[in-house]
Amino acid sequence: MKIAVLGGTGHIGIGLSLRLAIAGYEVIVGSRKGEKARQKAEEYTSMLESRGLNGVISGADNAKASELSDVAILAIPYSHVYKAAESLKEDLAGKIVITPVVPMEKKSRLFIYAPPPEGSAAEKIASILKDSRVVSAFQTVPAERFANLDERFEWDVPVCSDDDEAKRIVLEIVNSIDGLRGLDAGPLAASRLVEGLTPLLINISIRNKVKDLSVKFV
Ligand SMILES: NC(=O)c1ccc[n+]([C@@H]2O[C@H](COP(=O)([O-])OP(=O)(O)OC[C@H]3O[C@@H](n4cnc5c(N)ncnc54)[C@H](OP(=O)(O)O)[C@@H]3O)[C@@H](O)[C@H]2O)c1
Repeated sequence: MKIAVLGGTGHIGIGLSLRLAIAGYEVIVGSRKGEKARQKAEEYTSMLESRGLNGVISGADNAKASELSDVAILAIPYSHVYKAAESLKEDLAGKIVITPVVPMEKKSRLFIYAPPPEGSAAEKIASILKDSRVVSAFQTVPAERFANLDERFEWDVPVCSDDDEAKRIVLEIVNSIDGLRGLDAGPLAASRLVEGLTPLLINISIRNKVKDLSVKFV
């Protein structure tokens, strides 16, 4: 299965690309610039090789990466992701599209969830990508620890979608990553509950001086 990580050059994109490649998926790092994507793909491949790990990672511009993929992850900041989704609509038609996107803003010293009128980033993305199978996941995975291959963790990843088969496939993908447990969290409309956890995690991190929190349901 080919998984495109669009914006795979960024913070959460690094960990997703490395760990999905380790799990045995063929990863295509996507970027607005094809050359940058290819450079990052080489860099990620070297990072794996230096640890004696194998992985198939290539790079392409976001449109090409989308076209080549079976599954694409929108690892793009919320302020730009809707426009990016609009421009990739045709390339993503028929594909499973995973959104880890969290719309939030900072008010005085507090991060708050700032969803669009559709109710959540996932629902807005689904309203743009009408011909794709949108699934939300990975919102509560902290990028820095996730990208560090020396880190060991046990985190839960709630997965939401209206498409049961696509949700099952994404749960399999999540569960293939060492240390992650995918959990069915309901339809896409439930994504607002999951997206809203991220500002809570960040506020707790800052106030209690504990870095990179995630979630585990016990
Ligand atoms: N950071 C986290 O801990 C974390 C955790 C879970 C979920 N998320 C979510 O994952 C998404 C990405 O977060 P991030 O922290 O990885 O973001 P980021 O590092 O700031 O950006 C990711 C990539 O987005 C691309 N990008 C930037 N501006 C763009 C634009 N105008 N149009 C299209 N692409 C653009 C860039 O790739 P190119 O320049 O190569 O095109 C960049 O490398 C966000 O929606 C966030 O809510 C983040």
